[in-house]
Amino acid sequence: MIRIGVIVGSTRPGRKADAVARWVHDIAAKRGDATAEVVDLRDYDLPHLDEMVPPSMAPSRQPKVRRWAATVAGFDAFVFVTPEYNHSIPGALKDAIDYLYQEWHNKSAGLVSYGVYGGTRAAEHLRLVLAQVEVADVRSQVALSLHTDFVNFTSFRPAAHQEQAVGAMLDQIVAWGGALRGLRQR
Ligand SMILES: Cc1cc2nc3c(=O)[nH]c(=O)nc-3n(C[C@H](O)[C@H](O)[C@H](O)COP(=O)(O)O)c2cc1C
Repeated sequence: MIRIGVIVGSTRPGRKADAVARWVHDIAAKRGDATAEVVDLRDYDLPHLDEMVPPSMAPSRQPKVRRWAATVAGFDAFVFVTPEYNHSIPGALKDAIDYLYQEWHNKSAGLVSYGVYGGTRAAEHLRLVLAQVEVADVRSQVALSLHTDFVNFTSFRPAAHQEQAVGAMLDQIVAWGGALRGLRQR
């Protein structure tokens, strides 16, 4: 079984990210080859990065970050649910990625983005960041439009075809998550 963490990338009051993450989770939960869990950054209350040395050189000693590290270490694969903020990802999500290093390594990930144009610019930006922490992000992507997958730009009501897109993305992260297991165990 591949353990998938569905990361809620926005911490904003009134955010849409939690509804999107729950939708992804419920689709993933129907699979027989994976388990899924929603991981809400709000539950970790991470400060802006305030480490003396980069996490690639030494792991954090801060209790809040150690707790975050233990959560990330427990997954084989991730789905990053991210809105687009000024053509990139929210600062809270960037900090959450930056705080860790080895905990991300040799794991797979899929991207679910949303915005006026599907959040695709944020997703492309996120791919650059993930490469640096050695996460293998898959090709299949879910791009949700604020025009057509939300009612009045507010309530999440995904178009029917989007569930299929989630399925294709999950197929890939499960396959790559399994293929990378040997590297993770070294
Ligand atoms: C600071 C900020 C910047 C934004 N920039 C963009 C943008 O560049 N492109 C876009 O499509 N939407 C942009 N938006 C709209 C968000 O994608 C939209 O509000 C979305 O619902 C935010 O996700 P959230 O509700 O889960 O936080 C921006 C929103 C905020 C708050």
